[in-house]
Amino acid sequence: MMSPRALLARMGERFKLLAGNGGRRDRQSTLRADWSWDLLAPAEHAALAQLSVFENGFTLAAAEAVLDLSDCDDAPWVVDALNSLVDKSFVRTRGADRYDLLVSIQAYADEHLRTEGRYAGSGTAALRGAQARHGACASRAGKGLHASLSLAPGPTTSPMAAGQRPLCSPSMKTLLIVYHSMTDGTRQMAAAAAAGAGCEAATVQVRLLRAIDAGPADLLAADAYLFATPENLASMSGLMKDFFDRSYYAALDRVNGRPYAAMICAGSDGRNAARQIERIATGWRLKAVADALIVCTQAQTAEQILRTKRIGPEDLARCEELGSALAAGLSLGVF
Ligand SMILES: Cc1cc2nc3c(=O)[nH]c(=O)nc-3n(C[C@H](O)[C@H](O)[C@H](O)COP(=O)(O)O)c2cc1C
Repeated sequence: MMSPRALLARMGERFKLLAGNGGRRDRQSTLRADWSWDLLAPAEHAALAQLSVFENGFTLAAAEAVLDLSDCDDAPWVVDALNSLVDKSFVRTRGADRYDLLVSIQAYADEHLRTEGRYAGSGTAALRGAQARHGACASRAGKGLHASLSLAPGPTTSPMAAGQRPLCSPSMKTLLIVYHSMTDGTRQMAAAAAAGAGCEAATVQVRLLRAIDAGPADLLAADAYLFATPENLASMSGLMKDFFDRSYYAALDRVNGRPYAAMICAGSDGRNAARQIERIATGWRLKAVADALIVCTQAQTAEQILRTKRIGPEDLARCEELGSALAAGLSLGVF
């Protein structure tokens, strides 16, 4: 088994493209090396931080409705700030008039938006202002007044009903991500992996399903799997186990050889949950293509354990990298 990094490294030229100028890996490496926020101009700090309120991408019109750069010296037009952030690879273009942030960058930008002193004007008031403008914008879009704002989720991560087959061409591959989460940590990891897998949207369809919504039909319809679970009581979580219980015999001998990986969100350990998934996958004769990715939230006390989790940018970047590696491997047919 390989780490996502080794997996990606094996993918040769195609992956080198991703790692090239401004590519996904380039940005993730930069993140790990303490991402170069300092390189941005003050207005770009404010713009990027405020863009973090968008969950599933945005259009230029939506950015113009939400960003307030009026406090910045020589406040630029929103379109200019946005184009500059695209040029510097902090914002991705996702089609003719659609943009998004990698989940890891979104988390990083959100932290700056909500923390006083990160840039001129950051802090609670900036967060509330951006959220209020985003809420007003979403509500106008919901009423059909600004259909062009297009705030709806993008196609690669929009959840599909359980059992519903993806609408895609025969050559399209499907990566199924099944997760359960009680205090949101695993959900953030799964969402990051789905965003990472979005790099292969032309050839890989990503289905992000909660364990409770997933079943054998979803497994049979997919070409590769990413299972994500919390470790609770030295075990995978109950609803994740329920998904496997409901699916095991229906999928037995029908998914042999398909690639999979696992992600665990744990307080301090995670290895038992990883082992359990490995045993089930062995029974299904799935092929592990990466080591289990374990994120420890360091939650030890009852209060910490029950609190909503916030997964840090570096861990989210690892999850994105795994999603990206799975999708790239599927697309290239290397598994
Ligand atoms: C009932 C319960 C039992 C837990 N047992 C473990 C455990 O055995 N090992 C561990 O590393 N973390 C344990 N944790 C901590 C969770 O793994 C941690 O809070 C993690 O963030 C949960 O993921 P989630 O945020 O997606 O729900 C436990 C949490 C709960 C609520």
